[in-house]
Amino acid sequence: MKILLMGPPGAGKGTQAERLTELLKIPHISTGDMFRKAQKEGTELGLKAKTYMEQGQLVPDEVTIGIVRERLAEDDCKIGFLLDGFPRTVQQADALEQILADLGTQLDAVINIEVDKDFLLERLTGRRVCKSCGATYHIKFNAPKNENVCDKCGGELYQRNDDTLETVASRLDVYEAQTAPLIQYYVAKNLIKSIDGSQAVEKVSADICAALGR
Ligand code: AP5
Ligand code: MG
Ligand code: ZN
Repeated sequence: MKILLMGPPGAGKGTQAERLTELLKIPHISTGDMFRKAQKEGTELGLKAKTYMEQGQLVPDEVTIGIVRERLAEDDCKIGFLLDGFPRTVQQADALEQILADLGTQLDAVINIEVDKDFLLERLTGRRVCKSCGATYHIKFNAPKNENVCDKCGGELYQRNDDTLETVASRLDVYEAQTAPLIQYYVAKNLIKSIDGSQAVEKVSADICAALGR
């Protein structure tokens, strides 16, 4: 299956992607994760993305579209993929359509995870991520068994540097201005499946699976 996961910052895209890709055995492609990995490795891409991410702004389309084009051309994507956090602008969505057409394929579904803005701030500021395996936790809603230790691999948990109050506010504004219009874009293509993301993690997963007919 070729799936796109949409939703505002903190909606639970990464959390649901972890579960779905395990179930469907397809690669999880998160542009945010790719940029964070590049920063950790100190590559040119990481340097390009750093200032934008720290300010909660979008990395320029030409940079982002290029890395997605390369990633989708890899062999493991032939059986399907789950895109998380891309596209985020109409220009990226148009580019994705062209990339997929060039590969002779198209999207099967766009899952839009809806969560009220009031919940997002608490979700983001309480998030913790594993340094080693990238698993996502929340200090209140999805706490690890031992504080700051990953249940899955024993790795150390950290807080993303864009999960501060100030940066979260600008990420939410950027989402409203630049990414929310994509909902209509995919409604018009008859691809959107809206999911209530304010429910418990397991229920959200179950609703997504049902929407995908799994
Ligand atoms: P990115 O990493 O994609 O961040 P985001 O879109 O802001 O989304 P998040 O990862 O913050 O949230 P999520 O929806 O994955 O939520 P999660 O599952 O972790 O992008 C970061 C930056 O990179 C951007 O700001 C931009 O600069 C750049 N970038 C990335 N892609 C780009 C693109 N295409 N173009 C340009 N720039 C780009 O959950 C959040 C928390 O809530 C966790 O603690 C989790 O445990 C908890 N939680 C999850 N589900 C539930 C639930 N059902 N109930 C209670 N708690 C829950
Ligand atoms: Mg994420
Ligand atoms: Zn881990």
